[in-house]
Amino acid sequence: MPSSSFFFLLLLFYASPVASFFSGLLPAAADAPRFAESPHFRNGDDCSSSAADASACDPSFIHIAMTLDSHYLRGSVAAVHSILKHTSCPDSLFFHFVAVAGGRDGPLDLLASTVRSVFPSLRFDVYPFREELVSGLISSSVRQALENPLNYARAYLADLLEPCVYRVIYLDSDVVVVDDVRRLWDDAAARLASAAAVVAAPEYCHANFTRYFTPTFWADGGARVFAGRRRRPCYFNTGVMVMDLRRWRAGGYRRRVERWMGVQRERRIYELGSLPPFLLVFAGEVEGLDHRWNQHGLGGDNLTGECRRLHPGPVSLMHWSGKGKPWDRLDAGNPCPVDNLWEPYDLYIRPSSGADASILSWSW
Ligand SMILES: *[C@@H]1O[C@H](CO)[C@@H](O)[C@H](O)[C@H]1NC(C)=O
Ligand SMILES: *[C@@H]1O[C@H](CO)[C@@H](O)[C@H](O)[C@H]1NC(C)=O
Repeated sequence: MPSSSFFFLLLLFYASPVASFFSGLLPAAADAPRFAESPHFRNGDDCSSSAADASACDPSFIHIAMTLDSHYLRGSVAAVHSILKHTSCPDSLFFHFVAVAGGRDGPLDLLASTVRSVFPSLRFDVYPFREELVSGLISSSVRQALENPLNYARAYLADLLEPCVYRVIYLDSDVVVVDDVRRLWDDAAARLASAAAVVAAPEYCHANFTRYFTPTFWADGGARVFAGRRRRPCYFNTGVMVMDLRRWRAGGYRRRVERWMGVQRERRIYELGSLPPFLLVFAGEVEGLDHRWNQHGLGGDNLTGECRRLHPGPVSLMHWSGKGKPWDRLDAGNPCPVDNLWEPYDLYIRPSSGADASILSWSW
């Protein structure tokens, strides 16, 4: 019985401390997802050129902030790829990535070196985010995925980024941009300047605003929170925002968001995670952008549920907010039609089946 004794030995090996010793020796990079290098995108003729070594303070830059973590890295890489592909002046983009320092995602350097290897000429910085900043302020919400402390990093961008950066586009990791991001930047700049607003984002006034907060909140006079706002408070999605960081810093908006997180911990005033505190602070004060810049909800309510379609009208940015992510559905072999629009930006290299094949070849 050669095969059963072989498996017995195999079992012994895997059950022994020797096995865990060897697996502990494997470098972390072996587990890291692998990506193909992005094509190199060049500036068009009409672009103003900046020095190759320009710092983030170069006033010609368009600033884009995103978070980086191992779970959504594939999405972030696709998002950056899509932005570079569709912009006329890729060299004038500066990316600001926020990643958890230490923590369960392993070294921030590994995430940074992955980005560097995929986009060798990308201008970017990686900023360590200390989870303790928010861990004491986060309450348990209905969806565990929403409780990743990095979801709150957008409220700290004004503190994390260099003071010379006075405006930034914040994007979630589950988006692709299919238009020149400079149009978003310029449009938001004009609107923010004329309205003296802190945040510009597409607004959705047909959405039922009441349901983003609990009956307790409204019963306790929640409506007063929004009295005196410039406009009727409407839902907006915090996955795509252009933030005026000078006004944010001057107005102490981080504290205002944190204050509502503190209220939430004491009495449940909403069910979702990082979105409602932004609504509490900014609804009715947001400068509205064209809906083309956030075709959200493409993830749908669950992984396997009905597929969402694009909303009518022009599309400049697609956003797979919701539970289903395009990479998960593609890997599972049941993508939604919209997921096929994400796939061309995917640079992830699926692990080769080599390891599986060699295991199979052992069992004779
Ligand atoms: C909005 O949502 C609230 C709370 O779920 C509900 O009571 C109300 O009827 C809704 N309003 C409309 C117009 O659907
Ligand atoms: C997923 O969503 C669809 C449609 O919204 C629903 O019919 C289905 O029951 C849901 N499935 C799960 C597992 O929640």
